[in-house]
Amino acid sequence: MERRKISFSPPDISELEIAEVAEAMRSGWITTGPRTKLLERRLAAYIDTGKTNVDCSSEDAINKYSNRVVCLNSATAAEELNLRILGIREGDEVIVPAYTYTATASAAVHCGATVKFVDIQKDGDSVTHMPEIDYDALESLINEKTKAVIVVDLGGIVCDYERLFDIVERKKDMFKALDGDGTPLNDLSSRIQKSIGRVAVVCDAAHALGASRVFDGKKRYVGDIADFTSFSFHAVKNFTTAEGGASTWKPIAGIDNSEIYKFYQLMSLHGQNKDAFAKTKLGAWEYDIIGPWYKCNMTDITAAIGLKQLDRYLGLLDRRMQMLRIYDEACDQLGISHLIHHTEEMDSSKHLYLIRIPGIGEAERNAIMQKMAAKGVATNVHFKPLPMMTAYGKDCSAYPNAYDYFHNLITLPLHTLMSDDDLKYVCEGLRECVEAVRRQSRCTVYA
Ligand SMILES: Cc1ncc(COP(=O)(O)O)c(C=O)c1O
Repeated sequence: MERRKISFSPPDISELEIAEVAEAMRSGWITTGPRTKLLERRLAAYIDTGKTNVDCSSEDAINKYSNRVVCLNSATAAEELNLRILGIREGDEVIVPAYTYTATASAAVHCGATVKFVDIQKDGDSVTHMPEIDYDALESLINEKTKAVIVVDLGGIVCDYERLFDIVERKKDMFKALDGDGTPLNDLSSRIQKSIGRVAVVCDAAHALGASRVFDGKKRYVGDIADFTSFSFHAVKNFTTAEGGASTWKPIAGIDNSEIYKFYQLMSLHGQNKDAFAKTKLGAWEYDIIGPWYKCNMTDITAAIGLKQLDRYLGLLDRRMQMLRIYDEACDQLGISHLIHHTEEMDSSKHLYLIRIPGIGEAERNAIMQKMAAKGVATNVHFKPLPMMTAYGKDCSAYPNAYDYFHNLITLPLHTLMSDDDLKYVCEGLRECVEAVRRQSRCTVYA
């Protein structure tokens, strides 16, 4: 086959996104404003209905879908604000899978909490093969200091939240809610913790916009399952705003969504009680600073990209499903295990295609990736377990399943600019590289 160049995950940007960005730039308003607010409502409607074409400009829709989603400048900011609104702080413990990207853990570290890593199930979930948390190990880690469990819908595959909620309910008696101290944020966090009344279930859905799973007998979209959820709209994600992310939460008994939303706004804009848009109103210059907080708002320029991505998103997901079928067939023929993105009860966002090659070690895995690179195919590894990283102690011995999952793992390129011929080129290259490395390692063993 003639050599091709297959990038790992370039953004799929059409003329529609380009035109909308140009419109935003011509509009006279480029930072957080009407486009960001519209994107928030449209994302809320998508999470609620699975539809991307809900009219979110009518009065009814404004009432229904405002104050449900907060767009920010990254998933990391979204996750940190989720934890800060929840009142996570020094002295608290947060349980995080050993198998994830650093942001899942670092957001908890930023809040001053202690991160407790938990291993994944051996070879991942038995049906989807996703490197999913070991729920029994997680349960045994919960103690009186535990305030949140963060799980990751890795690759867009949705975790078993029914099991997770059962666990935190069972451990309810151990939970000690934060007491208020008369300051606005602390008092809100205290009311949230008291209302939830157990360890909070927090979802890192950086990969999972549009994924769904049956929960409580009903198909629910990610964002409407965990107590708090964060999404990433980074350039490599299925749905992008170049950099960006969003927070959402399930309604909390006794607390109005608008109050929670207001705090996300404050925390993402210096704690300032008026945003730049409100301050432009004639004579409305004066503002207060409620807390010395953060700066992580989304701009209308990036929201413009998101609005058009959302128009196209269901089509992009359909295309991803077709692409997966080509990879699935090739991997099944080669005896290579891969993620299963669709089951009777779960439909993923088809973000990543993780494969694991039986019978090889780390060195052979890296050799296959090198050979693929020589054929022009970019591959990746999602993820090197966090305990292997310098920042997290460089010792994975307590997380053998995470290491085992990682050691023979390769992530194949998957993006909507790839043609069927590109996919077949990757499959053919994979077959050749795996066979070559297997032949080579047999020679080394017998030499
Ligand atoms: C699992 C996971 N969580 C969080 C993030 C952070 O996303 P962002 O770059 O939008 O902060 C990433 C980024 O790739 C991720 O893979």
